[in-house]
Amino acid sequence: MPTKPEKDAITGTEIRSHEWDGIQEMDNPLPRWWLYVFYASILISIIYMVLYPAIPGITGYTKGILGYTERHALEADLVAHRESQAGFFDRIAAATPAEIREDADLLNFALAGGKSAFADNCAPCHAAGGAGRAGFPNLADDDWLWGGSLDAIQTTLLHGIRWDQDDDTRVSEMPRFLADEILTTEQIADVTQYVLAFVNRADDPAAAARGAPIYAEQCGVCHGAKGEGNQELGSPRLSNDIWQYGGTADLVAAQIGNPQHGVMPSWSGRLDESTIKMLTVYVHSLGGGQ
Ligand code: HEC
Ligand code: HEC
Repeated sequence: MPTKPEKDAITGTEIRSHEWDGIQEMDNPLPRWWLYVFYASILISIIYMVLYPAIPGITGYTKGILGYTERHALEADLVAHRESQAGFFDRIAAATPAEIREDADLLNFALAGGKSAFADNCAPCHAAGGAGRAGFPNLADDDWLWGGSLDAIQTTLLHGIRWDQDDDTRVSEMPRFLADEILTTEQIADVTQYVLAFVNRADDPAAAARGAPIYAEQCGVCHGAKGEGNQELGSPRLSNDIWQYGGTADLVAAQIGNPQHGVMPSWSGRLDESTIKMLTVYVHSLGGGQ
């Protein structure tokens, strides 16, 4: 015969039959709110399992009647993304770099595209952000070898510089004054002092004075009478203390004696026209665009 359950004297709740060290347990029901949440979550999980992929099997999983997969969602996102980009690509294909610059949306898109194309293709030589490194010009300053207008930059990108695989490439070669015995080592030391005097760094005024006529005869045609440079010939300005190949007397003398003829590949054929336009606008925006 089951005995009648004992009741708590104060609350009147039934007390369970077991006891530990004098502590007994009341038979309270679960709180209502908790029970409802519990039932609701069971219900939701059943509905979920019917609608969505849920239960793993040996060769696959239950697919759910909605046929949902994240792959579809991803593909839909990608299509939408590509369509929104396609609009921009079409507009860039039809615009000149100058027109791109005038349209704020197009400009933003081109700058973003140009930045990533630059990181992939140009940063290995010109460094991140076009900051340049020895032998590779800084593209973010006001000093241009071949010109910093949109047109000049675009031409440089399309055809490269001294790139023998492009018939329209930019060319001009500084003579090898020592290697081809046009000048002696002493004359080169003198003209080096004359060049450094443009930026007030000559330490031998007498040598600089001896260098003046040599410069006028041999160098002025390309670099300008006062070292102002000539972008038609890609001849750098020598009067601004920005040096592609280094500004010490030794390095300047080395360049005069046996000049490096910097080579930049042409990008038509490797990058599509729209990417080249985006790069043009991006490089122009780096700080030195003219
Ligand atoms: C293999 C190395 C190399 C790569 C890659 C390269 N360049 Fe150049 N680039 C050069 C060199 C070297 C020069 C300087 C040539 C000279 O002395 O006239 C130069 C010059 C330029 C100039 C002319 C600068 C001026 O002052 O007129 C521009 C603009 C330029 N590069 C942009 C780019 C862009 C944009 C890319 C990427 C699509 C790129 N370059 C990739 C080596 C490179
Ligand atoms: C035919 C034109 C031409 C003549 C003549 C010429 N140069 Fe150049 N010079 C250039 C070009 C082009 C460059 C750029 C080379 C390159 O980018 O690789 C250059 C580069 C230089 C540089 C390196 C500048 C830098 O930023 O590092 C120096 C220095 C220089 N020339 C000095 C001279 C001197 C001095 C003479 C005369 C003795 C001379 N050049 C004659 C065309 C010329």
